[in-house]
Amino acid sequence: MTPARGNVTVIDHPLIQHKLTIMRNKETSIAGFRRLLREIAHLMCYEVTRDLQLEMVSIETPMARMDSPTIKGKKLVFASILRAGNGLLDGMLDLVPAARVAHIGLYRDHETLQPVEYYFKAPSNLEDRLIIVVDPMLATANSATAAIEKLKERGANNIRFLCLLAAPEGVARFTEAHPDVPVFTAAIDEKLNEKGYIIPGLGDAGDRMYGTK
Ligand code: PRP
Ligand code: URA
Repeated sequence: MTPARGNVTVIDHPLIQHKLTIMRNKETSIAGFRRLLREIAHLMCYEVTRDLQLEMVSIETPMARMDSPTIKGKKLVFASILRAGNGLLDGMLDLVPAARVAHIGLYRDHETLQPVEYYFKAPSNLEDRLIIVVDPMLATANSATAAIEKLKERGANNIRFLCLLAAPEGVARFTEAHPDVPVFTAAIDEKLNEKGYIIPGLGDAGDRMYGTK
């Protein structure tokens, strides 16, 4: 893992980088794209949860009583920015099946690049939970910034943002808007193009995941 620059950590594990290269390839199938995103989510989930606090509980094994560690505090929340966030969410839930889930429905208006909200549903007691917001793409950061504003309005105060690819412009905007929210990404690409797509990127994550183009 590359040490954090400011609040941004690039998770450059070789397995993640290898899988990401296959995802970027335009010849990769929908099924392959989806499977790789899920596998990368496993690896990234491992890193983003690495510093969670533990507490000891008393249990009985078939052989003896012992004090053993479990994750401390209320259940985690994974907040998926629809649609593409669900590709990461599935992998995260494989590792933390008891996590609570928030769904934040946003799409980018193609002309203005502003997020349009169409759905929001989140668990209660956000103020007492760690919330990991997931979306594969941080481009202009308009979507992620709006999603996190919404969560903060509902009381969230301990948030991390996990994406697959980020543009430098998006990282700058996001870290300015939410300096308290650490960002974890597998790569920071070169730039955004005039239509707000990440270059070289991987194209439209939602379309590649669901076959909608
Ligand atoms: C994509 C992506 C992010 C957003 C990133 O979603 O999944 O949510 O664009 O762009 P931004 O940083 O410039 O806001 P999109 O709006 O295409 O919706 P979808 O997931 O439903 O396809
Ligand atoms: N959303 C995507 O899915 N891809 C991009 O490159 C930018 C935004």
